[in-house]
Formats: sequence, structure tokens, C-alpha cells
Amino acid sequence: STNELHARIRAAKETLGERLVILGHFYQRDEVVQHADFLGDSFQLANAALTKPDAEYIVFCGVHFMAETADILARDSQRVILPNLAAGCSMADMADIDSVEAAWEELVSVYGTEPDADGRAPIIPVTYMNSSAALKAFCGRNGGIVCTSSNAKTVLEWAFERGQRVLFFPDQHLGRNTAKAMGVPLEQMPMWNPRKPLGGSTRDELLDARVVLWHGFCSVHKRFTVEQIENARAVYPDVRVVVHPECPMPVVDAADEAGSTDYIRRAVAGATEPTTFAIGTEVNMVNRLAAEYPQHTIFCLDPVICPCSTMYRIHPGYLAWVLGELVAGRVVNEIVVPSTIQDEARVALERMLAAKP
Ligand code: 13P
Ligand code: SF4
Repeated sequence: STNELHARIRAAKETLGERLVILGHFYQRDEVVQHADFLGDSFQLANAALTKPDAEYIVFCGVHFMAETADILARDSQRVILPNLAAGCSMADMADIDSVEAAWEELVSVYGTEPDADGRAPIIPVTYMNSSAALKAFCGRNGGIVCTSSNAKTVLEWAFERGQRVLFFPDQHLGRNTAKAMGVPLEQMPMWNPRKPLGGSTRDELLDARVVLWHGFCSVHKRFTVEQIENARAVYPDVRVVVHPECPMPVVDAADEAGSTDYIRRAVAGATEPTTFAIGTEVNMVNRLAAEYPQHTIFCLDPVICPCSTMYRIHPGYLAWVLGELVAGRVVNEIVVPSTIQDEARVALERMLAAKP
């Protein structure tokens, strides 16, 4: 039964004590979140992995790229475990390393490698945290950096100090929304089509570009629409519409605010008057906020329930199983990033951690 599962998880946590830390992303279901030692957005969880150097086991209740990042940042002796190995991220899968390498080669053929008079490289690769370790390693060895939705602007500023242009992947929406807010015109943000020569742009368009966008997107956040915002405003004229920057540009433009999952949490937590919030992000997080802040009216912008199906694959049954195995001295579902990829990916992650807002 469910109660028995929770009891097994609690007992295993008790037995493992300080040897174990459980990290949980905001999008995890409540039955999993209740067991997490740290709950956070992807940036906070990357840091959380660093703050528990004595924990032998990091059980990551999130998706694959987050567990990989924890493995890269954690000490060698620490083992990172993903309770269900099928918990991936469809957006991360949209930028495979071979296509990215091929695109990079073409871009270098247009731009060359010589820095300009200010010492800026022709182009800097920036990958969203939601990407494979191989892609982070690609950024590490090519002068690039990682960003999350909470620091994308800071990271793009970092990149523009060092480069004339940016190749941003995998999420076209986060790239477009962030660059637009920084004043980059849309005409200077071509999207790279891997099936066409030069990604479907002309040489001149590429030379004029500031941000070349990869064609990835999040299937959860792309569901939000301007019409949903209009409907919410028709019913609640005072509604505060807060969306995640993975939403398409027209949705972010129509919303009152956009920000990372932690930004959304803080927006709700910081509201002093009873407020109506329509939120454009994953429904497990929205429902949790609604339960935590009953003084506000909080609902998901998309009336059709839209959980992230891969986050949802972390079921308490898997958590109970991996913890039970640890108690028995067996490590299952370990995420091990090969050491050459780790070293290069760590460079790109450490640039991010050092980039000051
Ligand atoms: P955050 O960086 O806001 O935690 O978002 C991660 C994610 O997967 C959003 O879809
Ligand atoms: Fe990936 Fe979207 Fe799920 Fe986030 S919500 S893990 S970007 S599929």
C-alpha cells in the first residue's frame, strides 16, 4: 500500500542517516517531495549537490540531466542515483551532440575563429541546464557556459562580454525570451534548422545574428497560450499571470511576469495581499503552491492537466526500491558521467556558478 511505501522510505532514510541526501525538483509529485531533504529549481539543486560533500549517496528526484549535473559537481566518492532511469527530458533530447557538432562546424566556417578588436570570439555556445552532459562538455571546451532559467540573462551578458554572438540550445523559447528582454531584435535571432545548409539562413543573416537559436522546446510549456491568459483575465480582471520562460514568446509577452520555478515560488510567497495567480508552469508545482498558500487563489493557466510526464516517472515506489537497495549495500540506477566528459562539463558549469548577477 501507499502508506507502507512511505514507511519503507522513512525507515531507509533513518538507517542511512547522514550518508544519504535526497534532492527533489519543484515539479515532483507531492508523494515524492515529502521525502526530499532539499526542494529547489535546477540551479538550487545543482548547488545543493555541492553543499552535502559528506553524503555518500545523492538520490536525485528529478530528471536525467539534473542527476548528471549532480554527478559532475559532486565529489568522486559520491554516488548519484536516479530512482527511475526512464526519467529523461524531451527537450534535452532535442539537442544531440552530433547535430550540435555539425552545426558548430558550419558556423565556424562562416565566422572563422579570430577574435574581434575587443578580443571577443566570433561565437560562444551557451547551453541550458536542460541538456546532456556531452553538450555541457561541448560548451566547456569551446569557451562556452551553462545557464538555468534563473540566471539566463546573467549568463548571456557573460557570453556577450566574451563573444560577438551566441549559439543557444536546446530551448529556443528561453533563448528568445531572454535575448529579447535584453534588447536583441528578433531579426538577429535566426533559428538553426539542422536539415538545411547553414541552418536555413543566408551567410549575411548569420553574420548579422546575435543569437542563433536551437530548435528545441519543452512540450509542457509550449502548451500555454495567449488565449488562456485572455480567458483568465476575463474571469479575474485582477489576476497576476506568472509564467516560466520556457513558454513561447507571445505568452511571455502577454503575461505580467516570467521567471524560473523559484521565481514563481517567490512571487507567490511575497504577495502580501490575497491575490489571484494564474501560473504557466508544471501543474504539480502549481497545485502545491495552491495548497501552501490558501489565502491566494492559484490555478494553472492550462485548464487541462499537464504534468511533465518524465518528472512524473519518479514514483515513490522507485524511491522506496533504490533506498532499500542502498540499505542492503547495493547501488542501483547510478548515474555515472564518463570522466573526460565530466572534466569539460565541469568547466562550463563552474563558469555559470562563478558568473555574478
Ligand atoms: P527550473 O530551472 O526553473 O527549475 O526549470 C527546470 C525545468 O525543467 C523547467 O521545465
Ligand atoms: Fe524537460 Fe519540460 Fe519536463 Fe522540464 S518540464 S523536465 S523542460 S520536459
